Amino acid sequence: MAISALKNSALEAIQKAQNLAELDVAYKAFLGKKGELTLILRSLANLSEAERKTQGKEANELRNFLVERFAQRKQEIQIGEIGKREATEHVDVTAPGKRLPKGHMHPLTLVQTKAEEIFQAMGFTVAQGPEIETEWYNFDALNIPANHPARDMWDTFWLKPKNAGYLLRTHTSPVQIRYMESHNPPLRIIVPGRIFRYEATDASHEFNFYQLEGLMVGKEVSVANFKAIIEEFYHQFFGKPVAIRLRPSYFPFTEPSFEVDMRWGKGKWLEMMGAGIVHPNVFRAVGYIPAEWRGFAFGMGLDRLAMMKYQIPDIRLLYSGDLRFLQQF
Ligand code: PHE
Repeated sequence: MAISALKNSALEAIQKAQNLAELDVAYKAFLGKKGELTLILRSLANLSEAERKTQGKEANELRNFLVERFAQRKQEIQIGEIGKREATEHVDVTAPGKRLPKGHMHPLTLVQTKAEEIFQAMGFTVAQGPEIETEWYNFDALNIPANHPARDMWDTFWLKPKNAGYLLRTHTSPVQIRYMESHNPPLRIIVPGRIFRYEATDASHEFNFYQLEGLMVGKEVSVANFKAIIEEFYHQFFGKPVAIRLRPSYFPFTEPSFEVDMRWGKGKWLEMMGAGIVHPNVFRAVGYIPAEWRGFAFGMGLDRLAMMKYQIPDIRLLYSGDLRFLQQF
């Protein structure tokens, strides 16, 4: 093909190309390895020197010209595509955002938080301790020596090897000891926390659950103070006055000890917590002088509170992770 005809058909192909893919096809047809112009440039070698001079010059000029035109067209096409995108795709900044699913508190957390608020308003500090405890804090310091039959009150998960003396705390009472060791009286604390019991599970038993321990130590702390504080707590927690009664009981770390029952519905009494006046041996274990201080302590189950407040029939639901249950709170 003559150079001038080639030029016209190349320009036509460039103009016709409507997108980058079409332009690429055209480029290959003329300037690719086997493109028409490339073949002409290659065949120059076979010509006589005079012919090579004139035709070579022409062909090379056409090559440079076409390279330039391809580049221009490429730019035109790209600008055109951006323009099209701008016309069709746009962000509506006034559109409402997507609603993301929100997390929420577990019923036990709700109950714990509420209990903390009520006690804090009555001057109690929230304290904490470890879930893995030593035999000393969980038992001995609480006046429950080894081989004492009272240890059977708490079915214990011992950690191996057993004689190392580590266990999963069976109650929050060891935090009484830890707190008194590092603080001087007078004091008021509550200790919400997870505890463990080596027990079979059923609708009202779990092998781990939550307690809220309370401890108040002062010069003249009495059972009457305890009763008033607990009545006030229930009043605020349930939003109405609640009748309670104290029943004699036994705990090694309190003397006297009692069980606190709460009146629920039509005259039914429910057992809510263990409590009592701090035993002198507990004060001795932390270096307090028993004759100088008096205290009350209590330990209530938070699961029981949650089950009453939200009418949950089975304690195991609290630990099931079942969203059908959890999403109701
Ligand atoms: N720690 C006892 C329990 O788990 C409850 C309790 C706490 C009783 C404080 C008296 C005083 O059963």
